Amino acid sequence: MEERRLGPVVGLGTWNTFDHDEELARVVVDAALTGGARVLDSSPMYGGAERSVAGALDDRRAEAIVATKIWAPRLEEARQQYARQLEWFGRVEVEQVHNLVSWREHLPWLEEERDAGRIDRLGVTHYAASAFGGLADAMRTGRFETVQLPYNPFERECERELLPLAAELGMAVIVMRPLGQGALLRRVPEPRELEPLREFGVQTWAQALLKWVLSDERVDVAIPATRNPEHAAENAAAGEPPWFGPEERRLVERLAGA
Ligand SMILES: NC(=O)c1ccc[n+]([C@@H]2O[C@H](COP(=O)([O-])OP(=O)(O)OC[C@H]3O[C@@H](n4cnc5c(N)ncnc54)[C@H](OP(=O)(O)O)[C@@H]3O)[C@@H](O)[C@H]2O)c1
Repeated sequence: MEERRLGPVVGLGTWNTFDHDEELARVVVDAALTGGARVLDSSPMYGGAERSVAGALDDRRAEAIVATKIWAPRLEEARQQYARQLEWFGRVEVEQVHNLVSWREHLPWLEEERDAGRIDRLGVTHYAASAFGGLADAMRTGRFETVQLPYNPFERECERELLPLAAELGMAVIVMRPLGQGALLRRVPEPRELEPLREFGVQTWAQALLKWVLSDERVDVAIPATRNPEHAAENAAAGEPPWFGPEERRLVERLAGA
């Protein structure tokens, strides 16, 4: 799989997938890692997902790049979330402030943890375009190294300010909702409609959508979520070049109905 600044370009999201189901997590995480994915994105907001991912990793922890989050208005609660993450994962490769919650309060102690070597990179996330002004403010501090935002043919607001800003600041970009939370997969184009994309290694509609995201070189990793190990393998396979040009991207947009 192609690698950019955060490693292989297809990772795995964990929102609304296995929750406390560690057995399911094991099957899906195994399939993703075997397919070459490394970035596993989670959060204390996702129920039991963090703990399930940790259990699923078991003796494969060294293969994973754990991207999780702090989601707490108060320092004390944030510290508890972080202590549990260290217990489960040993260290955190990408620690993100979820939805900008109390980011100014959390930055100083998170920086101390990074300086102590228990965190590799600090990041910040938001899912709503209405919060992108605040996300840009956080990015401009120069104190975060990654940003996580939504990007797919129906959600392109990040192209206006955030992607250029991330490029200017040298920040790595993690893309949430690359499949539009599954909504983009409800209508699947006919196989003949995907024919022009075959030479780009596209076998399925989900792969066409992932390649649409990853063909924007400002993106470092897309993190599709799934409960299905076959989907995890299929998604990982979309991380191989060649990438789409403008014509192929427009075709995907048209097929998506955007
Ligand atoms: N949504 C948010 O607001 C949000 C916010 C912050 C962070 N994130 C992070 O970003 C990750 C990804 O976003 P997301 O989970 O909202 O949505 P997503 O990855 O765009 O879509 C997930 C949906 O796509 C389906 N899917 C995945 N691969 C498929 C394939 N190959 N073929 C057919 N269906 C497929 C999944 O169903 P199956 O289980 O059937 O495969 C699931 O319903 C989250 O899990 C989380 O880690 C999301």
